[in-house]
Amino acid sequence: MPNANSDHNAQTAPDQATLILGERQFQFPVIEGSEQERAIDISYLRAETGHITLDQGYGNTGSCQSAITFIDGDRGILRYRGIPIEQFADYPHFTEVALLLILGRLPSETELEDFSADLTRYAFLDEGMKHQFEGFPRSAPPMAILSAMINSLSCFHTELHELEDEREFLHTAAHIISKIRTIAAFAFRHSRGLPYIYPDPALRYVQNLLHMMLSQPYHQHVCPDIVRKALNLIFILHADHEQNCSTSTVRMVGSSGANLFASVAAGVCALWGPLHGGANVEVLSMLEQIHEGNLTPEEYVKLAKDKNSKVRLMGFGHRVYKNFDPRAQMLAKVAEELVPKLSGDDPLLEIARRLEDIALTDSYFVERQLYPNVDFYSGIILRAIGIPTNMFTVMFAIGRLPGWIAHWWEQNQTAGTRIARPRQIYTGETRTDYLPMEDRA
Ligand code: SDX
Repeated sequence: MPNANSDHNAQTAPDQATLILGERQFQFPVIEGSEQERAIDISYLRAETGHITLDQGYGNTGSCQSAITFIDGDRGILRYRGIPIEQFADYPHFTEVALLLILGRLPSETELEDFSADLTRYAFLDEGMKHQFEGFPRSAPPMAILSAMINSLSCFHTELHELEDEREFLHTAAHIISKIRTIAAFAFRHSRGLPYIYPDPALRYVQNLLHMMLSQPYHQHVCPDIVRKALNLIFILHADHEQNCSTSTVRMVGSSGANLFASVAAGVCALWGPLHGGANVEVLSMLEQIHEGNLTPEEYVKLAKDKNSKVRLMGFGHRVYKNFDPRAQMLAKVAEELVPKLSGDDPLLEIARRLEDIALTDSYFVERQLYPNVDFYSGIILRAIGIPTNMFTVMFAIGRLPGWIAHWWEQNQTAGTRIARPRQIYTGETRTDYLPMEDRA
């Protein structure tokens, strides 16, 4: 079926847009992407018209052209470098998908072997970093530690601040993708007062993370294959999502010339928000609140529809997906298969199913095109795996890291990239003067 955009524009695909301002007319070029998405290029709007655009939340504004990920929100399409994510449903290695996003193509066997060897080699942290965890209170939010320690990592690798070529970039990417697991695991161990468990070079990416989180001294955690596959898929499905809030943050920070570590650390902070990556934690607390008998699913949905309640149906809705989030569909299947095997009949899964059934037939949600998003089922799966709730968004960050890195590098390599510096419409005081204290009312 032709892309909805191309279908709409096929007959009238103008290559220019005309803006009429009073007596004046202005022409602006229309550009078209490889999937027939179209944009009016307003690079010279202010210079030519003295006007800027205003677009709260950038819902109608493209910040860049990118070749990494394609989303068609109306048709529920998500592709990494052109490959539909559904093809990764049973894919064994998140690290290969990470390399696909970063390189822009499927890696050769040698490239993948070299990258995997680097991930194993770089898993250790400098012992000086280990002591820094002690400076955080046990109750410190893991996302705060993650962002801080990624910046701290850059202090131990100042030679990787300025990247001269792709080889240095890939070397740095491997360091951060490998070490984010160790930082996450050490943050978890510190929060529980447990001894740090060092990475095991014999383990692959996902198993090594769970080993560092869940093993005990002299008693290695054995990761069931069903768990490895589920977490591997969660990382794959979170790996990139074009210009979402955290990725746009990484690009914004990187556009100033900030190094990759600083840009990624900023992305962690953006992801932390409850409307973004923090939603998976909010979904679990919503389900637990309902389970503890405070509210029935029906009562909760009623609250979520009430503007005065400030309550939202967490894990529902999306700025781009207005039909369904393909990731949510894939994770719903994983939850149905995995949860009963790992934790029997989980009442939270039952409540989630009930909420979805109610919302999908309720006119409030249907009219606003609100459907389950990636966060609706991911928390239930992570909980069944044994990941503590306060580590859910950290898991999202580990998955999203390759996407952040790929976007940072794509921007870095794009000729003509300028520092991101949006304009504004000022609505404050007009010209006034300083008033000495004695003259103030
Ligand atoms: C992620 O951008 C990405 O790609 C993000 C992400 C990624 O991979 O990076 O996909 C990951 O962040 C997924 C989203 C996780 N967040 C949540 O699940 C939080 C709950 N959902 C929302 O708060 C909301 O839906 C957003 C933030 C996801 C989208 O917000 P928008 O696009 O700004 O939509 P909006 O807030 O303007 O809502 C439009 C209408 C409003 O009602 P009206 O004013 O039109 O009457 O829909 C309502 C909203 O009140 N609405 C909801 C709702 N989401 C929107 N009402 C109840 N429950 C909700 N969840």
